[in-house]
This record gives sequence, C-alpha cells and structure tokens, in this order.
Amino acid sequence: MQGSLRQWRRAATLLLAVGRAPPGPAAAEDYEVLLLQRTRSSGFLPGAHVFPGGRPGGGPDCSSDWLPVLQPHHGPPGFGLPLPGQLREAYPEVPLAPWPSAPGLMPDEVAFRICAIRETFEESGVLLLLPSGCEAPRLARAQAPPADLAAWRARVQRDPGQFLQLCRHLGCAPNIWALQEWSNWLTPFVRKGGRRFDTRFYICCLQSKPQTFLDLLEAITCEWLTPTEAIKKFLCEEIWLAPPQFYEMRRLVRFASLLDLHKFCMDRISEGCERWLPITLITLDGTLQLLPGDELYHEDKEFLEKNLSINKKTEEIMGKDSKFHRLVFHSHHFYTIHVTIQPKYKHIYPENFLGFKSHL
Ligand SMILES: *[C@@H]1O[C@H](CO)[C@@H](O)[C@H](O)[C@H]1NC(C)=O
Repeated sequence: MQGSLRQWRRAATLLLAVGRAPPGPAAAEDYEVLLLQRTRSSGFLPGAHVFPGGRPGGGPDCSSDWLPVLQPHHGPPGFGLPLPGQLREAYPEVPLAPWPSAPGLMPDEVAFRICAIRETFEESGVLLLLPSGCEAPRLARAQAPPADLAAWRARVQRDPGQFLQLCRHLGCAPNIWALQEWSNWLTPFVRKGGRRFDTRFYICCLQSKPQTFLDLLEAITCEWLTPTEAIKKFLCEEIWLAPPQFYEMRRLVRFASLLDLHKFCMDRISEGCERWLPITLITLDGTLQLLPGDELYHEDKEFLEKNLSINKKTEEIMGKDSKFHRLVFHSHHFYTIHVTIQPKYKHIYPENFLGFKSHL
C-alpha cells in the first residue's frame, strides 16, 4: 500500500490561450488564459486556480477504438504529431503508477492529449474537436457544444469512454494537433504518502473565445485572464496559484502577443520538454523551491522522499554570480523567481520576478 502511495500518477493539463477581443481593457498581453477554480473540498490544491486538466482514464484515453476517429486526419505510428527530437531528461527516475501498454493502444503523445481535451470539456464545456474532412486551421477553433451538453458531460464524467461516443456523435476527432507540449511538472515531496502527479502541460492557442459552461463539481468558477492580470490577482490575494502555475504565468508574460506565443510553440515543436521535480529547500528563516539547473539542486533520489534543509538564512544563499533556478516563498501569496541559467531545448524561462513596484 505504502508503495503505491509513493507513486506519481500521470496527469495532463491545458493552457488554453485566446486572443482578447477588442475593445478589451488595455493589457500587457493581447491574450487571455483560462483558469478554473477548484472546489474547496478537492483533495488536491483545494480552492486553487488551475488550468483545466486531470488524470487520464487509463483505458479509455488510450483505447484502440480511437484509431478510426483519428485516422481520417492522421494515422499511426506518429498520428501526425511531432516526435520529440531529443529524449526528455530522464532524471530523476520516479516510480510511476501502472499504465496500460499493449500493441494497438494509442501512444502516450496521443492519449495524454485526448485526456487534456476530455478533461477540458468535463470542467469547462469547451470542446476542442476537429470535424472530419476539415484541415486543421492555423489557430484552433473550439466546436460549438452539443444541444444536450449537460447530459453528455454527465455521461463522460461517469465514464471517460463516453468521450469517444461524443466525438463519433459529432463526427469529429479530438484536435490533438492543436496541443503543443509546453512543460512537465512532478509534484514535489511534501509529506510521506502525499498525492503526487506527473503532469504534462500542453498549450493550445485558440482563434476566438469559446463559451464556458462550468460543471460546478470540479470547477466552481472560471476566469479568462492575461498572464499579468493573473499574477496581480494572486499577489492581491484574489486567487491562489500553486508554484507551477505561477511559474508558467511568469513564463507566458514573455510573450506579449498570442501569435508570437503560437509561433514560439511551433518553432520548438520537436524539442520535447524536460520533466522537472522541484525540491523544497528549508533555510533558517524561509522556504524555497529549487528547480533543475540551480546550483543547490541535488540530483539525488533521496529528495524524492524528503525536503532539503540548509543551516543558512535565505539571504545568504542569494548571492550574486550564482546559478539560480528557484522560487522563494515569502508568503502564501508572494513568490519571487530567480533565474540566471540558460534554458534548454529552445524553451524560454521566466525573467527574474521580484514583485511589482506597486506591490512592494
Ligand atoms: C517539506 O516542506 C514543505 C514546504 O515547506 C512543508 O509543507 C512540509 O511540511 C515539509 N515536510 C517535512 C516532512 O518536513
């Protein structure tokens, strides 16, 4: 039992970005990202604002029954998806919960995208589908919801396999080609037996804003926010973001325009993503999260199961000319980001974030 608790369970999440329709309020970015608020009774990140997503239905999301649905667009072995040009960083090797594998099943690249699209539908009602016979447009479009959306959603929530039936019913395929790999986060150690996920983050740039219909079960409110607005709301304690979501929002701030963001994703489409396991570092007077590449990051299996601590104050380990890739937690609603290393695989890292002038 203990063994199974320590495993990371696979999950997929989706950064859904959409151009802000004029005459929207002036903003630092010309696009918004969908954030859903999890219920306060949720077992993982209760009350937090997150991107839509969840866990793959082990069988249904990789079922060979998807083949005839996807085949009219692209078939095996690659299903028209870019193969990662380089292997993802294999370190650290973490124990993963069992996952079906058999000939004929959809490969992970397909199954995790189907999962992200299905979960996005379940939580927000947004349907990222591609009608059969349609060429994928440059920027994806969401499909209008079926007339009996509530009934379909309830069916899919009960049985993820029903998502395949919904796609057949609408004559569409899940638009897996609109989802680009963005990042991959492992939940860090917090306490023994805590829930942990190996979450793939995808990004999808949409042409126009779809209507959302919340399920009010997993997601209780939703907001479309520019990355800068999301960070401001976090600092003002209007929303709460877990460190990966905060980090990703700060990364998105580097793109002022949706078209630039989309182009960036397309240009690195074959690069794949590194999988990051943050390590919590406890100092004499604070807490940090170290990310790979930071000079204090330990590539050591030990830290899969414990925090790292140091007999120094936070300030003492923040000297100049050091290799930083870290977040410093100042309070529940104030993290800073410190990055001095170069990104790998044509990706981009956030700039240093020490707070907004107005905030400090
Ligand atoms: C590890 O660090 C986290 C974050 O500060 C903390 O919540 C947790 O209690 C720590 N766990 C242990 C076992 O010290």
